[in-house]
Formats: sequence, structure tokens, C-alpha cells
Amino acid sequence: MNPINHVAIIMDGNGRWGLKKKKSRNFGHEKGLLTVEKIIKESLKNKIKYLTLFAFSTENWKRPKYEISFLFSLLEKFLKEKINDLNKNNIKLKIIGKRNFSKRLNKILYISEKKTIENKKLQINLALNYGSKSELVYAFKGLKKKKQRINETNIKKNLETSNIPDPDLLIRTGNTNRLSNFLLWQLAYSEIFFEKKLWPDFNEKDYNKVLKKFKKTKRNFGNI
Ligand code: FPP
Repeated sequence: MNPINHVAIIMDGNGRWGLKKKKSRNFGHEKGLLTVEKIIKESLKNKIKYLTLFAFSTENWKRPKYEISFLFSLLEKFLKEKINDLNKNNIKLKIIGKRNFSKRLNKILYISEKKTIENKKLQINLALNYGSKSELVYAFKGLKKKKQRINETNIKKNLETSNIPDPDLLIRTGNTNRLSNFLLWQLAYSEIFFEKKLWPDFNEKDYNKVLKKFKKTKRNFGNI
């Protein structure tokens, strides 16, 4: 049975879910947040050490302004209301991605990370304004600046995930089979599970099914 240390998730399908319910895309995001809470709880139960969630990509800025503002206000509300709960549950929050948000949001992110920095049970890596290609460009610039040799160890050291083991598995909901510029380096040997359900419909049972399937997968890392 494979141990599970790190699960990465592309939470896709909120917008379609909202429209399917004859409501708005933002309604879907609101419901998607409830799934986030369920999956965090279930990750704790499963003793998973790292959970990386793709909440906003560098490409998501192309969306209508009102949707972008809604997503960030949802995030702000979530952190304000839940950071103490996360802290009590020994959960560490880490943001990955470029932080060029409003002064207020940057401050909330900073405070949330600081508050939970010593926590050990589960680390949530929230990918915000994250894009894997720009992360890699930044890493290579770092290597050049520090005059480090180009090798795998040094590239990893310069990524935002430098202290985080690579994901064992990636789950993408929403019936779309692509990586969307998410953790391209880190997912090199991860098992990938594309799920048909839209993110707001994805539940604990679905999550546990994927984890069970993963545990039984033969991982050979290029060996036979
Ligand atoms: C993708 O669905 C989802 C996002 C771009 C945002 C993810 C946000 C949440 C799950 C809620 C907020 C989370 C936090 C942590 C505050 P989509 O909108 O691309 O769906 P679509 O493919 O149906 O358009």
C-alpha cells in the first residue's frame, strides 16, 4: 500500500456547477468553498501531511472583474472566519504564488501564515496567483543570481515548494483532463486522477475512493 503524504488538487467546475443550478458562477464558487472545508477535514482524518489547492491561477486574471473580486472576497472571509479553527487543528497555511494583491489581502495572508507557522499536523499550500511556468522562470533567475549550478537539487531549492515533498497524487475535478500550468515540475511522478464530478459535488466519499485507488497503484518511478 502506498503511503500518502501529499495530495494536490485542481478544484475545477465551480462556475459550471453554479450555472447548472440556474444561478451564477459565483454561487458555484461559494459552494466550492464548502467542499474545500470537507476535504481539509477528510485530509486530517487520513493523516495527510500536505494538501495543495489551486485556488487562483496566473491565467485566472482574464476572468470578469466581478468574478475575480468575488473570489478574493471569499478567500478573505474564509481566512478571517476560519484561521483560528485551522490553527486549533494544528494546520499550517502556506501561500504559493506571486503576492501582488491588495495591501489588505497581502496583510491577511501574511498574518494567517504567521499565526500557523509552527503547526505540524497538516500543511495547506494555497496556490494563489500561481503559475508553474513563471515559478520555473523565477527559479532559474534565482540560480543565475546566486551563481548556482543548474541541477535538479538546485532547481528544486529555488521553487516555491522547496521544502515540500512532491505530490503523491493530483486530483482534478470537473471532467477536464489537463494540468493548467499547475506544479509542472513537482508532478513529474505523481499519479493523476481526473474526476468527472464538478468541485462543489465532490465529497468525502469521492475523495476516499481516490485515496483508496491511489494506495493500490503500483508506483515504479521508471523502474519495472
Ligand atoms: C475553478 O472552477 C475554480 C477556481 C478558479 C477557484 C477555486 C475556488 C474555490 C474552490 C473557492 C474559494 C477557495 C478558497 C480557498 C477561498 P472554474 O470556475 O474554472 O469552473 P468552470 O470550469 O466550471 O468554469
